[in-house]
Amino acid sequence: MAARALLRLHPPALPLPLPLLCLLPLLLLLLLASSAHGGGGGGLRVGFYEDSCPDVEAIVRKVVAKAVHDDPTANAPLLRLHFHDCFVRGCEASVLLNSTEGNQAEKDAKPNHTLEAFDVIDDVKAALEKRCPGTVSCADILAIVARDAVSLATRAVAEGRWGKDGNLYQVETGRRDGRESSAREAVKNLPDSFDGIRKLIKRFASKNLGLKDLAVLSGAHAIGKSHCPSIAKRLRNFTAHRDSDPTLDRLYAAKLRQKCRRPKDKTTELEMVPGSSMTFDTAYYGLVLKRRGLFHSDEALLKNEETRDLVHEYSRGSEERFLRDFGASMVNMGRVGVLTGAQGEIRKKCAVVN
Ligand code: HEM
Ligand SMILES: *[C@@H]1O[C@H](CO)[C@@H](O)[C@H](O)[C@H]1NC(C)=O
Ligand SMILES: *[C@@H]1O[C@H](CO)[C@@H](O)[C@H](O)[C@H]1NC(C)=O
Ligand SMILES: *[C@@H]1O[C@H](CO)[C@@H](O)[C@H](O)[C@H]1NC(C)=O
Repeated sequence: MAARALLRLHPPALPLPLPLLCLLPLLLLLLLASSAHGGGGGGLRVGFYEDSCPDVEAIVRKVVAKAVHDDPTANAPLLRLHFHDCFVRGCEASVLLNSTEGNQAEKDAKPNHTLEAFDVIDDVKAALEKRCPGTVSCADILAIVARDAVSLATRAVAEGRWGKDGNLYQVETGRRDGRESSAREAVKNLPDSFDGIRKLIKRFASKNLGLKDLAVLSGAHAIGKSHCPSIAKRLRNFTAHRDSDPTLDRLYAAKLRQKCRRPKDKTTELEMVPGSSMTFDTAYYGLVLKRRGLFHSDEALLKNEETRDLVHEYSRGSEERFLRDFGASMVNMGRVGVLTGAQGEIRKKCAVVN
């Protein structure tokens, strides 16, 4: 990417001396190779489809905007799908595959806890197949959709205070789709709501993601909802003594216990941030500081100096910094274990391999 940008910005205006001219192709190759392997991008770049499907981002945005317009709570599950995809086998759309005879897919693993909005992905794919058949991967669709979902939920973006293109950040593309999906791998790789800080750090590190990524990406819990099974143990049964999670505010615990009378209740919805779970902002960090994050893993951010400092900083209202950091960490997450070049395939339907 760096090489391309350089070329576009600085076309050699004067004829170069011959020896340099001979070296140029070699230099270019070196630059290209380093941008492909260095930086962790693994061959992804912004605008991968600019020639093969120039309207891809506009088409995706249109479908996502309609879905969110029809159901304003749709943005959260769309953001979450990309996370679940990237943490299991890398961002290669394994999360979208249906189970087949003899194989239980990620979708049907226990930590799928209510994944939703697969229909929106199918609508996006159908629109793209119409315009540019066999071109845009389902893994890239997940990445663009997540970017759009969070952009549409961010007030600064909606009000045009965040650049003019309506995007919270530039999304890299160029991913290809994998051919396997395993429920067992989902159980093994996805963070659990009861994880403590060491486990979370380890899980993120195994995806090449650092403490900052952990603190920043947890901020995704500014939007959306949860269900009783994800917090039941925190409310009544956290330790062997049958008590509640000491890292959870007592009054809030009592309130949640009233909502979750039955630990297995899968229908009651619990807002992540009561009263503002459709706007993407720093409210989550304020809740974490008050020990009113829904999950043990949210409060766990206070147990490490670096993540705790970030929680404090974001909660103090440096929203601009949070939004910028979030975009950067989403790009980092979007690079995890990607397939590029001739690897994998471009699925025709996101729920089945070709
Ligand atoms: C740090 C480790 C994480 C843990 C333990 C975790 C756990 C969870 C759990 C248990 C739920 C609720 C499921 C339910 O009860 O229905 C949830 C929801 C959600 N998560 Fe996370 N998560 C983590 C990180 C992330 C990341 C990195 C993102 C995205 C960048 C994310 C985005 C979301 C969103 C948007 C929802 C709401 C979904 C909806 O409204 O349907 N989470 N998460
Ligand atoms: C999640 O997995 C369960 C089985 O554990 C399955 O019944 C449910 O349909 C799955 N959810 C989704 C959205 O696929
Ligand atoms: C509490 O935990 C124990 C052991 O982990 C389990 O047997 C019991 O069913 C749990 N009770 C509730 C109310 O979840
Ligand atoms: C995938 O599974 C869902 C739910 O079982 C089903 O509605 C859908 O038609 C399947 N998709 C394909 C392409 O087989």
